[in-house]
Amino acid sequence: MKLVLCLVLLTMTFSFPTLSHEIKLKDITTEEIINTRKKKMSIINKLTQKIYKQLNTDDYQVLKENIIELKHTANNFQMLFPKESQGGKAKKLIWEDKKLFDKYNEDFLYDINFMLVSINEKDSINLKQNFNNMASNCSSCHKKFKKKK
Ligand code: HEC
Repeated sequence: MKLVLCLVLLTMTFSFPTLSHEIKLKDITTEEIINTRKKKMSIINKLTQKIYKQLNTDDYQVLKENIIELKHTANNFQMLFPKESQGGKAKKLIWEDKKLFDKYNEDFLYDINFMLVSINEKDSINLKQNFNNMASNCSSCHKKFKKKK
């Protein structure tokens, strides 16, 4: 009888700390995911401004590097919306209609890719047009999927 009680107490002391630890860990993860996607968007914002300024330089090598970084960041951003990661300025609609949100991300990536095509062809007129197309994704996606305040 004493032994059983001992065992019960032992399991209790060991299981409770692990339980609270797991709950904390889960919270941190969700918060970190939200912070990471915000950071990715800040990078996208800065890169877009940088690229805009470089459009007139015809420095295709530097432009290419920045557009490739933009592409990678947009790719990473898209993956930071797993289930149960609601929060930040992201609207609930993202998880309710994941297909539509994915489509907006794909359109964004599609236009970024077209900028790379213009770079490879060293076509600065097309590049500016494709930059404008790429930038139009920002407001259309925000209107649909980002909370205002
Ligand atoms: C496919 C959808 C989508 C596209 C395209 C998109 N965004 Fe966003 N953006 C979001 C969402 C969703 C958030 C809110 C993220 C959060 O708070 O969890 C956001 C947040 C932001 C933020 C705030 C980041 C912060 O620190 O809170 C900035 C700045 C931003 N976007 C700029 C841009 C710019 C500039 C572009 C275009 C070059 C762009 N976004 C394209 C969906 C998009």
